[in-house]
Amino acid sequence: MRVLFISAEMAPFAKTGGLGDVVGSLPRALRDKGIDVRVLMPLYGPVKSLFHDQLDYAFWHPFHRRSGTADVYIHVTEQDGVPVYFLESWPFFGAGGYVYTDVNWDRERFVFFSQAVMSTIRELGQGAHGDPWFPDVLHVHDWHTALVPFLLHESRFSPGWEDVASVLTIHNMAYQGWEAGGYLWMGGVPGRHHPDLVYQEKTDNLLGIGIAYAHKLNTVSPRHATELHYPRFGEGLEGLIWVRDPDFVGILNGIDMQRLDPATDPHIAHPYDVTNFRTERVKNKLALQVELSLEQNAGAPLIGIVSRMVEQKGMDFTVPGLRRVLAETNAQLVVLGTGDPAIEQHMRTIEWDFGWKARVIVGYSGPLAQRIYAGADLMLVPSRYEPCGLTQLVAMRYGALPVVRETGGLADTVVNYDNGAADEGTGFVFQWEESGAVYGTLRWAINTYHQRRAVFERMQQRSMRIDWSWDRPTGQYISLYDSALQRGRRGLVNLTSLGKVP
Ligand code: ADP
Ligand code: GLC
Repeated sequence: MRVLFISAEMAPFAKTGGLGDVVGSLPRALRDKGIDVRVLMPLYGPVKSLFHDQLDYAFWHPFHRRSGTADVYIHVTEQDGVPVYFLESWPFFGAGGYVYTDVNWDRERFVFFSQAVMSTIRELGQGAHGDPWFPDVLHVHDWHTALVPFLLHESRFSPGWEDVASVLTIHNMAYQGWEAGGYLWMGGVPGRHHPDLVYQEKTDNLLGIGIAYAHKLNTVSPRHATELHYPRFGEGLEGLIWVRDPDFVGILNGIDMQRLDPATDPHIAHPYDVTNFRTERVKNKLALQVELSLEQNAGAPLIGIVSRMVEQKGMDFTVPGLRRVLAETNAQLVVLGTGDPAIEQHMRTIEWDFGWKARVIVGYSGPLAQRIYAGADLMLVPSRYEPCGLTQLVAMRYGALPVVRETGGLADTVVNYDNGAADEGTGFVFQWEESGAVYGTLRWAINTYHQRRAVFERMQQRSMRIDWSWDRPTGQYISLYDSALQRGRRGLVNLTSLGKVP
């Protein structure tokens, strides 16, 4: 089976969050299971400069659409054995601008990208780069590439395309590519006449279009798959989710267990594993305290946050709770994150008031993130919603116990500490989106750290032993591809169910 991943992000080339991690690791895991996966992503200007030495020019083709003809250049490299194609076409890709820029410009560039993807696939199928390679499945991710299933639907009677299937993975429903109608018109994209799209007035919504037209869809945890049926999480697209319910599943994300391994992580000073973490792990905390100019104190519980600073992540209601914890306990805090300037600023105020025990770093650094996972005792993930969340998975892998809100993938992956007889748990879980819950739960975690060290360490041991590899999810994706191919044969998606919304 040949599968083409089509995505705005892929680590290490371009990553702003978990989407980059997933597209950076799932294709290789699928290849290990015998699936011929390749990736196609835009060539952002900065990526071109940074990875210049690794990219080979592959081929060129002219791409025609209503607004004119564009020159499309394809470059190629290999990452962990996965062929990765980069699409360059000025002014959309290859000039300035990293992954996301201005909201209008992004809609225009990703409509362009989705269209140019189709012509690039045609070229690949005709042998533009080595032996002809034509995919069986197009696997697209989030709104940026969600137009592709519709373009495939439009091509379904063209020779070669009849049997191609599409799969859409929803990593984040809150970003949709709204009101893209003008850009779709400029590109000459035909009308989206799916009755449910028309009925729900989503014909100009790029993610909505993908949900309507993809043969199969999934999101990145079972709990979030349920959540997306309701307005609180569905963000206006819950009606379409109900309509597509028979074709929609939740598949939990995995992580790259080899690369994210505290025993071999090149970014941390003191490697450790599940057998020696009780003595070795704390050395990373002491090193991190020096790096951050915090008091070197092995016994002070260190709370870590590594997060995009956006509304989703719940930082605003967290701040008062954190302040109280810092005022009342000997805990220390390190925050690494970037995003919305107002939220960044709100976080910074913690350091202004608690400078001797709190460090807030506004920025993005993969290596520092690893040192935080390896040095912190607790990792706070208080998200309002979290389709899966990788932070808590990496935290557990590194023996930092997650303190999370019970939503989406956080609910599916963190087992709450039971301080009764059960002796179970891999973290601390709260429900309410309020500072009191953050405060109370952190106090509970800190008390456990101080007063029940053996219990705390057993939780660390348990969490470090969990297998978060892609092994299970890859099997689920392969089944999804198989079922999409069944639906893909002769193309027609289910154009029925008008008004089936409860
Ligand atoms: P999301 O995709 O919503 O941001 P995830 O938890 O799925 O959330 O993934 C976040 C990923 O990005 C994790 O690998 C996390 O370590 C990383 N990350 C987030 N912010 C930063 C940052 N400022 N510096 C380094 N890594 C970060
Ligand atoms: C999104 C979600 C996050 C998920 C990631 C990868 O960015 O916010 O929860 O882990 O995608 O699927």
